[in-house]
Amino acid sequence: MATINHLFAKRAREVQASAIREICKLIAKPEVRSLAGGWPDPATFPVEEIRDIAQKVLVERSDLALQYTTSEGLPELRRFLADWVKKTDGVDCTPDDLFITHGAAQGMELAAKILIEPGDVAFVGLPTYFGGSGACQTFGAELVGVPLDVDGMIPEALEEKIVEVQAAGKPAKLVYVIPDFQNPSGVTLPVSRRRRLVEIASKHDLAIVEDNPYRDLRYSGEPIPPIKAFDTENRVIYLRSFSKIFCPGLRLAFCVAHAEVIRRMVIARQFEDCCANTFGQYVLYEFCKQGRLDVQIRKNCDHYRIKRDFLLQAIERHFPKQVRWNRPDGGFFVFVHLPAGQDCEELLREAVERNVAFVAGAPFFVDGSGRNSFRLSFAQSEPEVMGAAVEELGKLLRDRV
Ligand SMILES: Cc1ncc(COP(=O)(O)O)c(C=O)c1O
Repeated sequence: MATINHLFAKRAREVQASAIREICKLIAKPEVRSLAGGWPDPATFPVEEIRDIAQKVLVERSDLALQYTTSEGLPELRRFLADWVKKTDGVDCTPDDLFITHGAAQGMELAAKILIEPGDVAFVGLPTYFGGSGACQTFGAELVGVPLDVDGMIPEALEEKIVEVQAAGKPAKLVYVIPDFQNPSGVTLPVSRRRRLVEIASKHDLAIVEDNPYRDLRYSGEPIPPIKAFDTENRVIYLRSFSKIFCPGLRLAFCVAHAEVIRRMVIARQFEDCCANTFGQYVLYEFCKQGRLDVQIRKNCDHYRIKRDFLLQAIERHFPKQVRWNRPDGGFFVFVHLPAGQDCEELLREAVERNVAFVAGAPFFVDGSGRNSFRLSFAQSEPEVMGAAVEELGKLLRDRV
């Protein structure tokens, strides 16, 4: 059959489909006990509140709420969020320093669009979420992996890589980092490393894209200021999202950066989608104005804390001692390492035959390593399903290691 495949641009031909989207197809069967999906639990969605607010918005201001809005987003929502970020994150911010995006995903895409020239180098974690690395790659970035340890990205390793890249005559452009409860590793960057990353970016003249969608989902330990809070030179583009604390379906998030950076991103978005979903912004604003956001965050934390504890207890009971995993203080993920030489893609195939699913680690490593790791999520499945999945996985692991 004739197609237009030969007309595809290089950037469409070269960027791979997300491994998670692919696995979602594989595990769509209802009998599969999944620890794969990183989507939020629908049980947390504030359905009644959204229904009532949506009705109120339609009755009171359908003329505005169903209309286009400004590319920056609703002014009243931006004012609310500037205050909220100041209060909760200690980030000095005015409404001019932020704009509303369609998910943090769009924030990453726009950040890459305004910063990356083909051949520029973007530094990403080993492992990292492929939304961020994929956005950079789409615009022709070369990705260089920086090892993580139990405290996240290792600053000395980052600096070493930057020096290597610069010595090879390549332009080092940005660092993509997920400081809180990283996807996929679940680890959190301590305050000293946050400061250090800012110092390194300053020394080598790099931008930092700080992607922080899980920040509010903390179940233990004390909150740590975002990297943006230490950013005295306006190098950080800070991405926040409502996907995990409100609902992802309205695709609402926001981006905090210097006003000139915001202006460039807003101009770039004018050729994509003009503005973020107006109706959703009105609903979110009303939700925030009614004082529901902080309550919702607390509810979500209580909900996911129980699920995290359940998954960790099940892992402790069923996984053999040769296997290592972390105990995340928040977010959705537990990352598991098997002894070197093990292949978790193979393990996944065996698991799927037994109706158990997880995400194999390799696609999160831009250098092709990580075959002996995998990601488990406690976000979506019910505790009984997680328990059964971990028990089955434990049997497979004991056979292997
Ligand atoms: C680290 C990270 N960044 C960004 C996103 C996308 O968030 P959003 O729904 O706001 O686009 C995700 C989603 O899973 C994520 O894990």
